[in-house]
Amino acid sequence: MITIENIKEKLSNVKYPGFAKSIVDFGFIKDIAVDGDKVAVYVEITSSAQEVEAELRENITKELTILGISNPSITINKPQAPKQMSNSMSGNNMTPQVKNFVMVSSGKGGVGKSTTSVNLAIALAMQGKKVGLLDADIYGPNIPRMMGLEHNEPEIIGNKIMPYKAYGVEVMSMGSLVEEGKALVWRGAMIQKAIQQLLRDILWSELDVLVIDMPPGTGDAQLTLAQSVPVAAGINVTTPQHVALDDSRRSLEMFSKLHIPIAGIIENMSGFVCPKCGEESDIFGKGTCEELAKEYNTKVLANIPIEPSIRVGGDDGKPVVYFYPDSKTGKKYLQAAQQLWEQIEKANANGEIGNDAIQPNLPKGVSACSTEGQAYQKEQAAKKEAEKASKSGGCCGGGHCD
Ligand SMILES: Nc1ncnc2c1ncn2[C@@H]1O[C@H](COP(=O)(O)OP(=O)(O)OP(=O)(O)O)[C@@H](O)[C@H]1O
Ligand SMILES: [Mg+2]
Repeated sequence: MITIENIKEKLSNVKYPGFAKSIVDFGFIKDIAVDGDKVAVYVEITSSAQEVEAELRENITKELTILGISNPSITINKPQAPKQMSNSMSGNNMTPQVKNFVMVSSGKGGVGKSTTSVNLAIALAMQGKKVGLLDADIYGPNIPRMMGLEHNEPEIIGNKIMPYKAYGVEVMSMGSLVEEGKALVWRGAMIQKAIQQLLRDILWSELDVLVIDMPPGTGDAQLTLAQSVPVAAGINVTTPQHVALDDSRRSLEMFSKLHIPIAGIIENMSGFVCPKCGEESDIFGKGTCEELAKEYNTKVLANIPIEPSIRVGGDDGKPVVYFYPDSKTGKKYLQAAQQLWEQIEKANANGEIGNDAIQPNLPKGVSACSTEGQAYQKEQAAKKEAEKASKSGGCCGGGHCD
């Protein structure tokens, strides 16, 4: 005869997906009922993910089959998926536990994107937000060094990765996942996979905001991000000289094309105050971003000067906003973070987050990365092709048969 104890024993072999502990150890089994050969198991879990439920259902059934129980009634009670402040109700969100995504971009390299991402993320955390920082710069990931996390080994749980924690911010970097110093040649499909894995396979907590440090320029990484999550705010980092502004325009243009609300521009390396004599010189110019901001109906969130403490802070993993919050620059980062948050709230309230327009058109609840999602997209593409062919009178439709 099957007893509740027999069942419990079997269920203690079912691990909670991604964790080493079983659903019994976690206390997720709320009730077990046995009536002759009929068995009902009632489970309550903490994840709202469909995959977690499916995996549990399969593994519970497997264990109960060993006891000769067929067709058990398995009820799995999940919490509601976290309410999104952003547009992800209509579009994709591969990382549903994150409410808002901020893309930090620049037209070209070396202008201070990573420095800005680090200091803004920490500033947001200092202002009480739950913040993550994702280093998606596949070509030159610098965030581990800047956050004092160099040489840290990531903790792997199941097939997921725990983010690090530094200065009140959850952090993960491509740099922590590829061999140090190893140069990788990234092609389009690899970039897409890498970015999506960073979004899907990191065990981020429920975050108010994930700040994402992008590779320089406007390429596959930016497009993949916008196609995978609803981006609430784009920040452009630039230096003030006009050559840099030309590149910056491309980056702002990209935000428009991807339907990402522009939260503002950070004018970095904007003037230099000599630490010895106190005289200010505008090495790269100063204040040139105002015009650009107007052009794109946005604002300059901060003018950050060239300051030795910023560079040293970056090299030593001691970000300036955390160690010198009362310095002129520290205050500028804090103010910029506050303005960024206001922009995020405004974009949510006005329904301005619209990058679902460039996302793959999938039925509700189907992820673009799932086999189902990919099959759906292929099917849709084939339908479109067929329509095109029929419109062009049955020829190949490729424009070669005039
Ligand atoms: N305002 C500043 N004052 C002094 N040094 C700065 C300032 N901003 C950035 N730096 C330094 O300039 C270098 C480049 O900055 P950072 O790495 O943030 O740029 P990036 O745009 O992320 O570069 P990449 O495109 O290579 O990823 C770093 O050494 C950083 O510490
Ligand atoms: Mg960088």
